[in-house]
Amino acid sequence: MEFDTLAKRLATLREEGLQAIDAAGTVDALEAVSVAYLGRKGELKTLLGGIGQLSAPDRPRVGAIGNEVREDLEAAMHARRERMGERELEARLVAESVDGTLPGRPLSRGSLHPVIETNREIARIFGQFGFVVYEGPEVETEVRNFQALNIPPDHPARDLWDTLYTDVPGYLLRTHTSPGQIQVMELTRPPIRALLPGRCFRYEAVDASHGFEFFQVEGLMVDQGTTMADLRGLLDAFAHAMFGARRATRFRPGYYPFTEPSVAFDVQCVVCDGAGCSACGRTGWMTILGAGMVHPVVLRNGGLDPERFQGFAFGMGSERITMLRHGIHDIRFFLENDLRFLEQF
Ligand code: DAH
Repeated sequence: MEFDTLAKRLATLREEGLQAIDAAGTVDALEAVSVAYLGRKGELKTLLGGIGQLSAPDRPRVGAIGNEVREDLEAAMHARRERMGERELEARLVAESVDGTLPGRPLSRGSLHPVIETNREIARIFGQFGFVVYEGPEVETEVRNFQALNIPPDHPARDLWDTLYTDVPGYLLRTHTSPGQIQVMELTRPPIRALLPGRCFRYEAVDASHGFEFFQVEGLMVDQGTTMADLRGLLDAFAHAMFGARRATRFRPGYYPFTEPSVAFDVQCVVCDGAGCSACGRTGWMTILGAGMVHPVVLRNGGLDPERFQGFAFGMGSERITMLRHGIHDIRFFLENDLRFLEQF
């Protein structure tokens, strides 16, 4: 081959190569161009393979042109690769960009069950009067649930509590939190100011106002010279904190075997403010708890001398208090775990 022909071919190769580099749209395409022109079996190598047929003085001249072509193509390749990298980086930055001004996604978080929240509010209010929270066991002895509370085995008052017994003789699911009174008297000495929240169980048909499983909060105060007036003052303060400062309250005579005298404690109806409505049976009053002066037999069963110590006790249903606070009409909502209900609190 002639020198001129080879030089021309090399010039054409350079032009074609530069165009191919320009036309390559992706990194892969560019790599293919590189292999086709500059690779070991590429076009440049093939052309320069013909160098042997040239005269000795022409060989280095063609070699020099070949080197120039290689360098030009390599430089163009390099520049193109860099521009491609920059564009890819730009595209990635746009695609992955974070808009710090967007509002955050809300995290869902749980809340206290309304009955538990009520128990805490009750504890907070009585806590201001020095009452300390204790918790008794849900499985109790029959003795502490009944006998120690002055309810002998065949006493008709047992009909007040429909009981779930366990397989173990002498043990039952507590029907109320009152056995905690005995526990506290055994554990501590007067002055006693104890609050006992806890779950209770009864063999009971479930309806809008009765559950077979429910919470009570029990209170017990024992000291020297404790009177019914102390009980009345404390419960008034509680009712006012829970249901409003101007709500009227009253004691009615009641009956419980473990208190003497026993009372029912009423507050002015929270729905009609005493005018009389269907919620309060047109009486204008609602009973929120049972209470009374601790029976001497119960004090003695707790290891205390009734000649030296007197006390009062009270017990309330947490669900009932919660229903009155929030205007809930069916106790069954509390155990259904329907989020549409629970999320309102
Ligand atoms: N234990 C009673 C019940 O479950 C409630 C009660 C009434 C508790 C009077 C008391 C009390 O401490 O003095 O119905």
